[in-house]
Parts: sequence; structure tokens; C-alpha cells
Amino acid sequence: MDLARNLGDHTGELFQAQAHIWNHIFNFINSMSVKCATQLGIPDVIHKHGQPMTLDQLIDALPIKNAKAPFVYRLMQILIHSGFFIEAKIPGNENDNQKGYLLTSASELLLKSNPFSMTPFLLAMLDPTLTDPWQNLSQWFQNSDETPFYTCHGRSIYAFASHEPWLNQFFNEAMASDTRLVSSVVTKDCKHVFESLNSLVDVGGGTGTFAKAIADAFPRLKCTVLDLPHVVDGLESSKNLAYVGGNMFEAIPPADAVLMKWILIDWSDDECVQILKKCKEAFPSKEKGGKVIIVDMFCKSLQKGDDDHETIETQLFFDMEVMVLLKGRQRNEKDWAKLFTEAGFSDYKITAVLGLRSIIEVYYY
Ligand SMILES: C[S@@+](CC[C@H](N)C(=O)[O-])C[C@H]1O[C@@H](n2cnc3c(N)ncnc32)[C@H](O)[C@@H]1O
Repeated sequence: MDLARNLGDHTGELFQAQAHIWNHIFNFINSMSVKCATQLGIPDVIHKHGQPMTLDQLIDALPIKNAKAPFVYRLMQILIHSGFFIEAKIPGNENDNQKGYLLTSASELLLKSNPFSMTPFLLAMLDPTLTDPWQNLSQWFQNSDETPFYTCHGRSIYAFASHEPWLNQFFNEAMASDTRLVSSVVTKDCKHVFESLNSLVDVGGGTGTFAKAIADAFPRLKCTVLDLPHVVDGLESSKNLAYVGGNMFEAIPPADAVLMKWILIDWSDDECVQILKKCKEAFPSKEKGGKVIIVDMFCKSLQKGDDDHETIETQLFFDMEVMVLLKGRQRNEKDWAKLFTEAGFSDYKITAVLGLRSIIEVYYY
């Protein structure tokens, strides 16, 4: 087709296509702007002010060079557009047109003082160590490496973290920050999941944030955290909480139940079946039964129209992220059910109380 000759009839469409491409070329600016605002502490500064904060007040309070003051407005403009701040009239100055910045629920979740702050997760995910592998994505499609992360760094993410204490700490804190929110909802609203258990092992439980919350909420429940040795080395056990360094592909400590939060999304189907089979070996016996408690994403559908645009896009982002960094994938109910059957489990129940994620109890009896 002679594309240039058809220009006359389609200029509107053509410029719409051009704008669409520009929008996608510059999509990373949303991520980098929110990262910059978080690093400068903008949400904290506005929060501390306690009422709508004018641009001049914000500039005065920020740790920036005077010469950079004129640029703050531009950063704030894009962050208002992307839903991190709003503008409101200054109380007592209603007749004045001057407005000030306020937080939204998204920027409240980035406050350092918020116990559920997502800042450690944001800073880890947007660290060049984790974003550089995106530059290797097309190369990875043409080579034999397991992940673009491997193509970029020459080893897997967990092998990298085992040799780089700063990455290990950064990554573990990112996971813990996410788990603080999840564990507080689960121990409050999903008590029934744990009530009949005597023992539980949190596989890939990181530095123990989830297990600690469960051990505190259920003092008679014996909790164990299994993670790679470099993650749990030096962590102190307490009354009903113990740490074990090991490899979930080799052995999982015995328990009535196995908890796995954000584990299976990281692995291929074959690897998930291997892990689930190891979970079965951890249970006392088939007669006594056992269950795996999975906290993970559970896509209703990745088809447009079945859910809102942002939800679908977020699910697709996670699907790509775990492909680039790890060997995992997003799964819908059919995909999950197939894994459970292949690993020899009898039944499962889904409780959707965690936004885009769910609790899936998988039974062995
Ligand atoms: C995505 S993180 C999730 C951490 C934690 N469950 C949470 O959600 O906060 C995956 C965890 O699996 C651990 N892990 C990776 N490979 C493992 C293995 N072979 N055996 C045990 N743990 C492993 C990592 O060290 C990491 O802590």
C-alpha cells in the first residue's frame, strides 16, 4: 500500500496515531516523576503542612537548589495529572484564587510515616538494577537466556541479591513494605484461614513480616519462615516464630499449612508444580490433610471490556515485570486450577479481599 498517497484522507487518524506513539514513548515519565517526588519527600512535606500548600511554600520546604525552584511547578503539574496530588483553595482565603497542593489517597500511600508506605517498593522497582533489563528485552527474545535480567546482569535476580547485600536489603524491604498492608488485612479479615492450624511455614517469607503478623495474631500457632540463606541469616527467632535457610525446590519444613505470598507468580508452570509438590511433602499425611495458602494475583480476565482499563493494564504490567525479572507469569483461574490438579491437590477456595490479589486456599485431603 502506498501510505504517503493516502495521506489526504486520513490526516486526523494519522496525527492521532502519532500522539498515541508519543504517549507510549514517554510513558516512563509517569514512573520517573513519581519516583523523583518520593525521593524529594514531596508527599511528606505537603502532609506536614496540614493544609493546601502553595507552590512557594512547597519550594521553600523542599531540599532543592534555589536555581531549580522554577521547575517544581512542572513536576507538580504532571503529578496532578497522574492523580498523586490535587489543588484546593487555601482555607480562610476563599475569595482569593490562589490554590495549594493536597495529597490524594495514592500519595498518602507514599508517605514515609505511613505504616503501609509503598515507598520502599517503588524505589526498588524503579532502581536501575531492575529497570535496566528492559533495555535487553528484544535481545532476550533472540538469545537463550532465562530472563532479560539474566541477559543484563549475567545471573538471576536471587543469585545477584545473594552477592550484593545492598540489593538483598533493598529487595527484602520492598517486599516487607507490601506485606505490611496485606498481612494486616489478612490477620484482621481472614482469621478463619488460620484458626484451625497448629503450624504454618511461610515459604519465601523474606525477612518474616507476614509470619510475624500471623505469629502475633495467633500465639498458639507455630510459625516458620523458609527463605534463601542470605535472606534469613542472622534473623532472630522468637516464641512461636523460627527462621530456616533453605531451598523450597529441595525441602519445605513440616507444617499443617504452607503460606506463599508473591511466590508462584515468579515461577514457570513446571516450577510451580514442583514447589506445590514439595508443599505436599511438608504436610503430616494425606489423611490429616493440609493446605497451601496462596496470596497472589488472580486475573479475572485479560480481555478488554471485562474490567476497567487501569486494572487490566496493571495486570499486564505485572505479567511483563515477572517475565523480565524472573521466569513467572500472571494466571487466571483456569491456569491456577491446572497447577493445583497437576500437583495433586483436591480443591481450592478463593477469597478476594486484597484488591488485585486474592487468598487462594488449596486443599490436600
Ligand atoms: C517476591 S519475594 C516475596 C517475599 C514475601 N513472600 C513477600 O511477599 O513479602 C520472593 C521470595 O522468595 C525467595 N526465594 C527465591 N527463591 C527461593 C528458593 N529457591 N527457596 C526459598 N525461597 C526462595 C526470595 O528470596 C524472596 O524472599
